[in-house]
Amino acid sequence: MHSCSLIAPAKINLYLEIIGDRPDGYHELAMILQSIALADQIDIQASSIDSIRLRCNHPQIPTDKSNLAYKAAALMTAQFPEAFIKHGGLNISINKQIPISAGLAGGSTNAAAVLLGIDLLWNLGLTQSELEELGAKLGSDVPFCIAGGTAIATGRGEQLAPLPSLDNIYIVLAKYRSLEVSTPWAYKTYRQEFSSSYIQDRESLATRAAAVHSGDMVKGILHKDTKEIAQQLHNDLEKVVLPEYPLVLQLRETLAKSGALGTMMSGSGPSIFALCESQQQAEEVKSHVRETITDQDLELFVTKLINHGIHVVSST
Ligand code: C5P
Repeated sequence: MHSCSLIAPAKINLYLEIIGDRPDGYHELAMILQSIALADQIDIQASSIDSIRLRCNHPQIPTDKSNLAYKAAALMTAQFPEAFIKHGGLNISINKQIPISAGLAGGSTNAAAVLLGIDLLWNLGLTQSELEELGAKLGSDVPFCIAGGTAIATGRGEQLAPLPSLDNIYIVLAKYRSLEVSTPWAYKTYRQEFSSSYIQDRESLATRAAAVHSGDMVKGILHKDTKEIAQQLHNDLEKVVLPEYPLVLQLRETLAKSGALGTMMSGSGPSIFALCESQQQAEEVKSHVRETITDQDLELFVTKLINHGIHVVSST
């Protein structure tokens, strides 16, 4: 195989609870992650030049070693040096559609696609759990992005338990193009304000993380009850991001009054999504928000929940 093209979907957090600190400096989380149809395309080609080259259609995305997709390729070359020598370098191109720095795992899903693409290109035959293990070295959301769909994520976010898929539920996604929230800032600020309520002992942390499996959100998902899911949407990081970013708070309030079933910030923000009853309702919600907030910096998408992560569209 010389090349492959992959679709790399974004994710939203239907549920994000911060339950404690970890010895590695991260947080213990209990999350429910969900893939959405909004996606980037990643093309990977074997190249005669003995190096990794990255291109991206988005001018603000770095194409050097700081890009998580580049790091994913570098990780593969370090893990499988013989395959790298045998197959030569890599030309990677990212066609970005997912808003950047949005809490939608855009960088993580690109890295996940690169891991999967190189696995195919070099014929490594890695299992999903081997790919997830490599993904966890790159970022907490990368393992989820590989298989995607709907899943409970605990630990740093890398311990996954798949849930039955939620297809054909439409959402409106809203993000101010020029507004970015730093994920480390959001978690650090949360720790400063709320660490007194963190669960301290390991056993209670494990019990709390396990409780999400039998919680109301999971029940809603198992029953495919969109109204219940909408009621159970939760994100602890809203407590620090919304007070700091009045525009995001206003957007959140506008979506909450738009007739949608429920609304929530995704990840560390600043994107906000609204869960809708139908595609038609999603279009109406989008129009309502567009009429209420006329700022052209606001990007709005109608998209839907999907049952998969990285998807190979072609290979030659
Ligand atoms: O793992 P990732 O690089 O995506 O995480 C970005 C940042 O988010 C981390 O540097 C950390 O500050 C914060 N984080 C955290 N606990 C987690 C996941 C992320 O504190 N479980």
